[in-house]
Parts: sequence; structure tokens; C-alpha cells
Amino acid sequence: GCRIVVLISGSGSNLQALIDDLRTNPADGAIVGVVSNRAEAYGLERARTAGIAALSLSHRDYPDRDSFDQALIRQIDALNPDLILLAGFMRILTPDFVNHYAGRLLNIHPSLLPKYKGLHTHQRALEAGDDEHGATIHFVTEELDGGPLVVQGRIPVETGDTPESLAERVHRLEHRLYPLAMRWFIEGRLRLIDGRACLDGEPIAAAGL
Ligand code: GAR
Repeated sequence: GCRIVVLISGSGSNLQALIDDLRTNPADGAIVGVVSNRAEAYGLERARTAGIAALSLSHRDYPDRDSFDQALIRQIDALNPDLILLAGFMRILTPDFVNHYAGRLLNIHPSLLPKYKGLHTHQRALEAGDDEHGATIHFVTEELDGGPLVVQGRIPVETGDTPESLAERVHRLEHRLYPLAMRWFIEGRLRLIDGRACLDGEPIAAAGL
């Protein structure tokens, strides 16, 4: 089956959604390890509770980004993964890391990419007066938050929304989106072909929830 490693930095609610999805509806895949760059990340507790290997590797123990990423590669590769899912992993990854996992590295981002790459996406959507907002799953490439889109989910922005209220609704959406994309990959339906995200062999135009 598909061996999945999930990278986190914090709460891990998306990790929980992935764990729950595989438990509710078994697939030919399993999360074989969770790695956090922060030892205190609550997501590590979620992994342990689910009986999944929970590892932490602090970037502060390494002199530079490149040596941290090389150590991260060694940890991940020891788990022999087919798929690596970034789920609230709040570190920029080096081109060496990204290229090492080309075609098997997905990220979830809390905006309708290409809008609002980077941080503070909910606040930025509000400040721009957007009437919709959402989340995106994409393949990771060297361009930060710029890799080929896999699937997006949309929510309306309501009068009176705050960054917190938007974040909460985006989270609920994310918890449906990431299991969907994971399942497509496990089933061999989702692939990166010639730099394009393809579902069932066809380039993905605008898959949406
Ligand atoms: C999620 O909203 C995810 O989209 C975002 O962090 C949150 C993690 O929540 N990721 C990024 O901002 C990546 N730059 P979680 O720890 O509860 O899954």
C-alpha cells in the first residue's frame, strides 16, 4: 500500500482529518509517520494516540536551512514513503528537498491560490474585500505556494467575518479537501505528469468542492 508521511508544525487538525478518514473508510494506504519541526506540536500527540510514529526534528539544532532539510530527508526516507503531505508545516523547504520528493509532495494552503501565497491569508482576504475565500491542495515545487493545483474548496465571506471566523470555516473545508486528495493519490488517480497535476490522466483544470 501507499506509505504516507505527514509533516506538521502545530495543532495537526488536518492530520487528524487524514487519520480519521483512513480509519472510517480504509484505503490501500497508511500514515507511517508524522514529523514535526516543533517538539511541542499537539499534532505529535494526535499521532501517538493513533499509534503512528511521531518524530520531531528541531530546525534550531541545525546551523542552516540546508542542513536541516538534509536531516529531514534522512528521517523521512527512513520511513520509505510514497507520499509526503505537508499539513500546517510552517517552514520553507529548500529546492533540494522539494526536488527530492518531486511528484509525491503535496501541501495544503489556506487561500484560493494563486491568491495570498505566504502567511496571514484570512486577514488578507478580508482586507481585499473578497467575497469568497477557501483552501487549496497543490503539488509542491520550488516556487513557494506556486505548484500545480490539485483541488480547491470555496466558502463565501460573510458580513462580520473576522480572520478567526474565516479560519474556522476554512479549516472545516480543509478537513474534507485533504482526505479527498490523499485518496486520489493512494488510488493512483492523482499524478504529476510533465509538471502538470493530472487526475485519471487528464490535466486538472478546476477541480473544486
Ligand atoms: C492549515 O489551515 C493549513 O492550511 C495552514 O496551516 C493550518 C494548519 O492547521 N498551512 C499553511 O499556512 C502553510 N503555509 P492544522 O495544524 O490544524 O492542520
